Amino acid sequence: MAQEAATRRAVLPGLAVTVVAAAAGYAVAGSSSAADAKPATAAANGGGTAPGAQGVLAQLADVPQNGGLVLRDSGIVLTRDGGDNVQGFSAVCTHQGCTVSSVAQGQIICPCHGSRFDAATGQPVAGPARKQLPPVNVSVRDGAVFGA
Ligand code: FES
Repeated sequence: MAQEAATRRAVLPGLAVTVVAAAAGYAVAGSSSAADAKPATAAANGGGTAPGAQGVLAQLADVPQNGGLVLRDSGIVLTRDGGDNVQGFSAVCTHQGCTVSSVAQGQIICPCHGSRFDAATGQPVAGPARKQLPPVNVSVRDGAVFGA
């Protein structure tokens, strides 16, 4: 009995160390995520490079004609004309780095300060952004949109 209590006491400090280490690991992971976001921030108003895109990005049927689809996880916005032509652009607004929110009426829309970009070219057409959304190479095959 006394030995069991002693063992429990010995385990608890070890558990506390584990919890602290886990919390520290989380903080480091959070910092790493912030560091990963830097390329997107660097793209704001600086041109920068578009995110890489590989494999299937979306099913063509999920990209509305005369509209588009924002792939938040990939940082890419896909736009589609009235047919099956799909364009890809960085979804990171070139004004201050917000992620664009939607595509409507031939324009890619940033919700933060109202910048709008031409859905066919990525060029800014309204709002404070002055630089084009960097293009991302995509292609359509077999009913799916692929990264180049
Ligand atoms: S970040 Fe997009 S308009 Fe400002």
